[in-house]
Amino acid sequence: MARAAATRDWETFSSAGGIQVMTEVEDTDRFQIRSMIATDPPKHTRLRSLVNRGFTPRAVAKAEASVRLRAREIVDAIAPKGEVEFVSEVSSVLPVAIICDMVGVPEPDRPRMLDLTNRLLGGGDQEYGGNKESIARAGAELREYGLWLAKSRLAEPKDDMATTLVHAEIDGDALPPEDLGPFILLLIAAGNETTRTAISHGLLTLTEFPDERRRWLEDLDGRAVTAAEEIVRWATPVMHMRRTVTRDTEFAGVRMRKGDKIAMWYIAANRDEKQFTDPYRFDVTREPNEQGAFGTGGAHFCLGAHLARRELIVMLTELLRRLPDIHVSGKPEKLRSNFIHGIKRMPASFTPVR
Ligand code: HEM
Repeated sequence: MARAAATRDWETFSSAGGIQVMTEVEDTDRFQIRSMIATDPPKHTRLRSLVNRGFTPRAVAKAEASVRLRAREIVDAIAPKGEVEFVSEVSSVLPVAIICDMVGVPEPDRPRMLDLTNRLLGGGDQEYGGNKESIARAGAELREYGLWLAKSRLAEPKDDMATTLVHAEIDGDALPPEDLGPFILLLIAAGNETTRTAISHGLLTLTEFPDERRRWLEDLDGRAVTAAEEIVRWATPVMHMRRTVTRDTEFAGVRMRKGDKIAMWYIAANRDEKQFTDPYRFDVTREPNEQGAFGTGGAHFCLGAHLARRELIVMLTELLRRLPDIHVSGKPEKLRSNFIHGIKRMPASFTPVR
């Protein structure tokens, strides 16, 4: 598939120069937050193999019960209210809880993780810092936290990913601190910011397309998989990933020079009329739906795609089952970013249930 060629050809389109349009090639090293998402094979392959097993469909199926339990707790907490601020009370709560459970972040530290990942991934927005230096500060804090967490597992191992990573070896050597801290940073940041955005857009989209909501409600569980996939396409929570060109090349008729930054705009790919029939139609039964919001294939394809889909399905079906008329009741406040398609705050209303 032509649109996937750049993500598959890592030798020409490298991730090592950074993955956001706004960062410069030297920033990843300057900010010391080079995680596997900003490395190329073979190093990337070795790092990813350390955590791959935790995110397979089987591992995610095992986590299903705890995802459902958390989702039900969230719905229980809001059900009597009738009105909520959806992002802080619903969409941000589940992803941070699940990824922190998996990595091993203690409960009291989770609000701080949310704050730091807001500042790291949404840092272009004034409210979260507004410049590259504030992004670097958030990255440094998260990296240090990751390192501290991993080291505390050396003294007291637990059944979590921080323990796996601190005991991991690559070619007989333990992971050095410059890999360990950023690794945990990546899991926490990638695991919560994106899925939250998908859940928020889920409610927004269902509010904007009431007929599609009705179609989904007719067969809530039966249509959940296609509805969630369509929400991910529609939302495209990560709008782009960047690569750096390593040698002069031509791509789709465009000449590119060594050192050029290029962006893959998933938000555009997901409205590509060559790929999708009637791409501007939101359709909860769309099939096939080869959407590219988790990446378009290749080494860096989203590690958490199965987990994200599960969280989205469980959260939205639990909500719609208990509060079927929940809808967005005011203007969403959008994140100022060309990277994350974020929603900062969004009021929602529904008939209260006691
Ligand atoms: C709807 C939610 C999500 C979206 C839209 C999303 C999107 C993406 C995208 C576009 C990439 C880059 C793909 C590429 O460069 O080819 C990526 C990578 C990644 N994602 Fe996700 N993601 C989501 C949820 C998650 C979750 C829940 C986790 C859990 C930890 C996660 C962990 C990662 C990691 C670790 C990478 C880097 C993989 C690598 O470099 O090998 N993501 N994601």
